[in-house]
Amino acid sequence: MSTSFGVVLLGTGSSLPTRSLRNSDFPASLDTSDEWIRSRTGIQERRIATPSETSGSLALTAAHRALEAAQLHPADVDMIICATVTPDMMVPSNACFIQRGLGCRPIPAFDVNAACTGFLYALTIAAQFIRTGSCRRILVIGTETLSRIVDFSDRTTCVLFGDGAGAVVIGASDGQGRGQHWFRLYSDGSRGDYIRYNGVRLRAPASTSADPRASDQFDFLRMNGREVFKFAVRTIIELIGEILAECNLTPADINLVIPHQVNQRIIDAAFADLSFPTDKLMVNLDRYGNTSAASIPIALDEAMRTGRATAGDRVLLIAFGGGLTWAGGVWTI
Ligand SMILES: CC(C)(COP(=O)(O)OP(=O)(O)OC[C@H]1O[C@@H](n2cnc3c(N)ncnc32)[C@H](O)[C@@H]1OP(=O)(O)O)[C@@H](O)C(=O)NCCC(=O)NCCS
Repeated sequence: MSTSFGVVLLGTGSSLPTRSLRNSDFPASLDTSDEWIRSRTGIQERRIATPSETSGSLALTAAHRALEAAQLHPADVDMIICATVTPDMMVPSNACFIQRGLGCRPIPAFDVNAACTGFLYALTIAAQFIRTGSCRRILVIGTETLSRIVDFSDRTTCVLFGDGAGAVVIGASDGQGRGQHWFRLYSDGSRGDYIRYNGVRLRAPASTSADPRASDQFDFLRMNGREVFKFAVRTIIELIGEILAECNLTPADINLVIPHQVNQRIIDAAFADLSFPTDKLMVNLDRYGNTSAASIPIALDEAMRTGRATAGDRVLLIAFGGGLTWAGGVWTI
């Protein structure tokens, strides 16, 4: 077991748009149904940002809540890392927007893009700075407004995603036993076409339209659902097998698993194969859909605030997404 102590979770927070979109709210023209969406994905509703809500503003609220939970002030933060594929703008980054909004002193602040795996990438990067002693406290955020990049006339994608933000503060600790024990990050760019979002094509001719969706510069998120489904199930099974073997653990040693909130069928298929008790799974995708980089920190915050995860619990985090990317980690909180 590759053991590292000294990086602990100090507080969590989240922020979700107030506007809810239930399955039955999709227009008849989409040719879908509540029954189809529930049975194929487990999703019942998702949150959709209002025009005044952005991935930056949701992140800022989540960050405030995480600092409050950690009983820390913005002045205590040594670094901000924000995972997102839907930043408010390319420059400045969401992390810089958050640094300004919190009123932090000048500190490193940057965004990370590893799609739905982004939060675990950001958390792992942050943990390295803590471990080396370069930083004492780091704010790590996952935030998305996927509703702004999905095609609401494409029933194969738009029913799956939602908006929201989650944040954690991690810090250095001298205590033994708590903290991050194991992590692994992966990518395979050769399968990048499975999930793709071009965004603004920087080399395309300038458009005169005020609405980027009306111009040839904007595309929507596209996905090969069947291939992603197979990749996701296989990845959960293989990565959890790897984690348990390398850490010399069994499912009985894990108190809670927080998987990327992707699709109930994917989670069920993978964990049935792993013989994992389902009561150890934290799932809230029925209410929020897939919020990409925000999904794990939102679920972690919910687990902490509802008492599903308490101090001393060993929690397994696992994510996968566009890139393709995937990652896992074990923390004792
Ligand atoms: C997208 C997904 C739900 C589709 O479910 P599926 O059981 O694989 O369905 P299929 O792709 O085989 O499509 C079956 C039929 O349902 C239709 N369908 C797709 N979405 C539909 C919807 N929202 N409502 C009604 N019918 C739908 C398809 O058009 C297809 O119709 P056809 O047979 O007439 O062509 C599933 O593949 C999935 O969840 N993949 C993973 C995607 C994901 O989570 N990506 C993010 C990863 S981070």
